[in-house]
Amino acid sequence: MGDLSPDQAAAELAWLAARLQAANVAYHRDDAPDISDATYDALKQRNLAIEAAFPALKRSDSPSEQVGGTVAEGFGKVQHVVRMLSLGNAFSDADVRDFDLRIRKYLGLGQDAGLIYTAEPKIDGLSLSLRYEGGILMQAATRGDGAVGENVTANARTIADIPHVIADAPEILEVRGEVYMSHADFAALNRRQTDAGGKTFANPRNAAAGSLRQLDATITQARPLRFFAYAWGDLSAPLADTQFAAIARLATLGFATNDLMVRCDGPADMIAHYHRIEEQRATLGYDIDGVVYKVNDLDLQQRLGFRSTTPRWAIAHKFPAELAWTRLEAIDIQVGRTGALSPVARLTPVTVGGVVVSNATLHNEDYIAGLGGDGQPIRGGRDVRVGDWVQVYRAGDVIPKIKDVNLARRPADAVPFVFPDVCPDCGSAAIREDGDAVRRCTGGLICPAQAVERLKHFVSRAAFDIEGLGAKQVEQFYADGWITTPADIFTLRDRFATGLQQLKNREGWGEKSAQNLFDAIDEKRQIPLHRLIFSLGIRHVGEAGAALFANHYGSWRAFQEAMTAAKVGEGAAWDDLTGIDGVGAVMATSVITAMQQEAERASIDRLVAQLQVHDAVPVARDSPVAGKTIVFTGTLEKMTRAEAKARAESLGAKVSGSVSAKTDILVAGPGAGSKAKKAAELGVATMDEDAWLALIGAG
Ligand code: IVH
Repeated sequence: MGDLSPDQAAAELAWLAARLQAANVAYHRDDAPDISDATYDALKQRNLAIEAAFPALKRSDSPSEQVGGTVAEGFGKVQHVVRMLSLGNAFSDADVRDFDLRIRKYLGLGQDAGLIYTAEPKIDGLSLSLRYEGGILMQAATRGDGAVGENVTANARTIADIPHVIADAPEILEVRGEVYMSHADFAALNRRQTDAGGKTFANPRNAAAGSLRQLDATITQARPLRFFAYAWGDLSAPLADTQFAAIARLATLGFATNDLMVRCDGPADMIAHYHRIEEQRATLGYDIDGVVYKVNDLDLQQRLGFRSTTPRWAIAHKFPAELAWTRLEAIDIQVGRTGALSPVARLTPVTVGGVVVSNATLHNEDYIAGLGGDGQPIRGGRDVRVGDWVQVYRAGDVIPKIKDVNLARRPADAVPFVFPDVCPDCGSAAIREDGDAVRRCTGGLICPAQAVERLKHFVSRAAFDIEGLGAKQVEQFYADGWITTPADIFTLRDRFATGLQQLKNREGWGEKSAQNLFDAIDEKRQIPLHRLIFSLGIRHVGEAGAALFANHYGSWRAFQEAMTAAKVGEGAAWDDLTGIDGVGAVMATSVITAMQQEAERASIDRLVAQLQVHDAVPVARDSPVAGKTIVFTGTLEKMTRAEAKARAESLGAKVSGSVSAKTDILVAGPGAGSKAKKAAELGVATMDEDAWLALIGAG
């Protein structure tokens, strides 16, 4: 031991902890030992010897303190230190030019100022985040909902492209990239699956996802997965100054990176590279579905920051969707949680881009009739009829759509589709309001379809996400009258854990699964405010809207009081609500209406009585402006208004457009007028741009 420095000893202890932990998982959980017993014992001995020589370096997760193995049902959850985001899409050259213009505008850069982008293939696989501490792979996590992913460490360790140990890396480094399967490996896997009588995969992406998410890591190991690194998350030291150099650094560290990545000096260059990549698409040997552009300068990326789910500094330029012709067999009407009647095309199954498609959305009655959202003809005004030959396409992940109809093959007896004016589910009138393209069931809570869809939304991943309570279970419970509104979920244990009718006695349930469900429900009695608001399924209030409300009002109490007090179109509560950046009159009206509708509100109150709602946490609690309301006025000279606002919000401040008694700070540049006057009258602290930058530590 004498020849080991403390640094070396610490590094080796870290490696031993990770290695022995992996061996425990392989042995105990997966019944698939990955090292021999003798090697295991030797590693444990080595660990003990180092700990004896350097007692101060003994780790809190020391293998010498651990007895049993890890027992895991499903995958553990991993909270991402830096959220894993998705990308905005560009579908045309004009979209790419707009992307460049938006960035220039945000940064206050003129048309002629140099701005370099990187362009690289968008790999069609699934994203993975690899966390290295002290150069050792400690954890691998899937994206999940972006905030919380699944721990797939044991599986990731079986992928040859993923190094277990890296040298000369920052102390903490999260490498992000795409797990994918090559065409050749995919074909061979499907052949093996067929020979073994197993199920085959529809496309390489499904095969990659199915292989990575195996509870048994030996199965993952037998699947030929690969990994391209293209981004990073948590970092203790910057990798480089530019995107291009950072990826080159990852390559030096031993990661596979894509050699089709180039630097471009503007939209024309980017689009040219897009076409070069498109030409090679068929011969690359793996699936790609577009080209990703990123701002090369990492300081600029930092300034540009993020919208709620996508970075401002990157975009995916998608390849045109694949098309296929098939027959439209029927048009069904589905009723959504807000009562919208949505027509769905039932198709003769056809393969589009490697996936079998048998349903497509028909949007609404105008769309079927050949009219677009603006009332102008689409498809040359051709309507869609049952029996028609239709052209179907898939754009990325989204539901298939219908692009065209072939009138030459229309059956002689095909008749125009008559859109129902009553709800197919509850028989209530289905009406179209002025300016709404959608016909809606007026049944509200009495409509079973709406009730079930609301419940499904309530338990969905971004809402309550209750383990063991998915769409299928909700449908069953609703059909049997066990659950009609969300509050009923939280009284299931009281009603059905004991007594005459018990969950454990129902088909498909047993003692253990019933207990697990009750426990999973109890676990979600504690819920963050934004999830609760989103789960209510209020029309026009998606995840981003719910987060805006949560951040603005802070607590359920403040939110519900404000919604109860608000009047549509007037008054202080309305002004406050519509003053939230991103909340327009439509969303504001919808949330007020929902919160003030008697039956609806009673149902919400019953639910909240079952819960402990966690207040919103300011984005950055320790910043000097967290929770403060800021107003910017006059000309800002160091950054654009959009950037100033986004920066303040990322530090936990609220940015408002008008000065009131609630304003904490007015940042006034040259030319500030009435707002500065009003602030002075109200005694609101006023500072110039430099003082503001100094306050937020950016001066
Ligand atoms: S960058 C913050 N680069 O596409 C943005 N993503 O549709 C980080 N993807 O979630 C992503 N190839 O799973 C980036 N070269 C590439 C990519 C890529 C594939 C995936 C990734 C992302 C999704 C968004």
